[in-house]
Amino acid sequence: MNENENLMDKVISLCKRRGFIFPGSEIYGGLANSWDYGPLGHQLKQNIKTLWWKFFVTGREDMVPMDTAIIMNPRVWEASGHLQNFSDALVECKVCHKRFRADHLLEAKGITPRYAKEELQDLDQINCPECAGDLTAPKNFNLMFKTAFGINDATALDVYLRPETAGGMFVNFKNILNVTRKRLPFGIAQVGKCFRNEITPGNFIFRTREFEIGEFEYFIRPDDWEKIFEMWLGEIRRFWQDAMQINMDNLVWYEIPDGERAFYSKRTVDIKYKFPFGTEELHGIAYRTDHDLSRHEKVSGQDLHYTDPETNEKYLPHVVEPTFGIDRMLLVALLEAYHEEEAPTSDKGETETRIVMKFPKYLAPIQVAVLPLSKKDELSGPAKELAADLRKNFVVDYDETQSIGKRYRRQDEVGTPYCVTMDFDSLEDKKVTVRDRDTMVQERVEIVELTNYLKEKFNF
Ligand code: GAP
Repeated sequence: MNENENLMDKVISLCKRRGFIFPGSEIYGGLANSWDYGPLGHQLKQNIKTLWWKFFVTGREDMVPMDTAIIMNPRVWEASGHLQNFSDALVECKVCHKRFRADHLLEAKGITPRYAKEELQDLDQINCPECAGDLTAPKNFNLMFKTAFGINDATALDVYLRPETAGGMFVNFKNILNVTRKRLPFGIAQVGKCFRNEITPGNFIFRTREFEIGEFEYFIRPDDWEKIFEMWLGEIRRFWQDAMQINMDNLVWYEIPDGERAFYSKRTVDIKYKFPFGTEELHGIAYRTDHDLSRHEKVSGQDLHYTDPETNEKYLPHVVEPTFGIDRMLLVALLEAYHEEEAPTSDKGETETRIVMKFPKYLAPIQVAVLPLSKKDELSGPAKELAADLRKNFVVDYDETQSIGKRYRRQDEVGTPYCVTMDFDSLEDKKVTVRDRDTMVQERVEIVELTNYLKEKFNF
């Protein structure tokens, strides 16, 4: 097992052990590649979404938020092309009957998928990866999840779980324009669940059939697209560097060449990440011209044009669309945070390996842990009061079991930035010891000053 596979295994194991992420429906034997976010995973995801939201939505004056339905009128998907074209090439082994995504089998053999007249090439080079059997010709497998809308089998409407959130924002373009009186350029953003019946889900939360997306449609004048595309590339870079604080050497900016982009897109960049299982798409940004609004205009019969209030010029806005996979962002946050390092166990100069999740402090699912040095009421009473007071401003864990060393290690393993230890001296001098997760340096702080001290550390 190489170091990278090892890292993935270690992160998955930590996620289950500490309640970040559990296999879905586990007591019934699970459901392939479905995952449930536990207490720490949910909080971490929430923190990532809040960071994203603040950076790209509420922190800007040119963005408005919305939250649209998962199930929409099926004509939305007719207009967007999903019903006809949202498919992957599926091949089946003629011997063992396992099914695979043809482009993934090519990639696994080091062959970059090529298309001629929309048909995948080089399929004669691949066999079943399980039994080496011959494969069938590819067929287009639509990834949309279909369900029935209505209580009467005879009249229920065939509807689909949304595969992306974009459609909800395009069909509301006129509503948003009317109520916000925004002028171009401006964007509509949302975060929400999406569903795709993937042929080969896998790699933990990297590719699943149910996942979350954060994306926005940024409406622009057609002539401005190049400058605005560059602006968003810069903002995305700033987000990964300053907000998510990742090692930027792990990102690869892949310019999708002509011929590989969707026919309506003039520029698309995939932001890839060097995952332990390979360099794969983390998220993307696409210039979609006026494709979406013109399709919705045609299929709905509604006028979706924009009239410039200054020049009276009437035109269909063009769109730049950055899309982020929230679960992939969370996987990156976990991989970047995971550290193993030698740490002293005692005054005798001995060391042990500590696992420490070095999340950016504001992303950590627990912000402060309160740890009394004794379980006796004399100390646990005031320590619980202190924890309750800190909860007004921070996410706090209270832990009084086992040795202080073991408790520090437990908090390190889930990335808690600050541990606050209360000892018997605290009852006299009204001070506590604050330990920093990364430096392990301890500082004595006045209890009355503690909230402000921590607020400053978190930069609130
Ligand atoms: N509206 C554009 C759009 O949906 P996409 O590249 O199909 O673009 C956007 O998907 C992002 O959603 C991807 O870059 C990835 O981060 C995430 N994503 C897509 N499929 C996924 C899956 N099956 N599991 C987890 N995340 C997925």
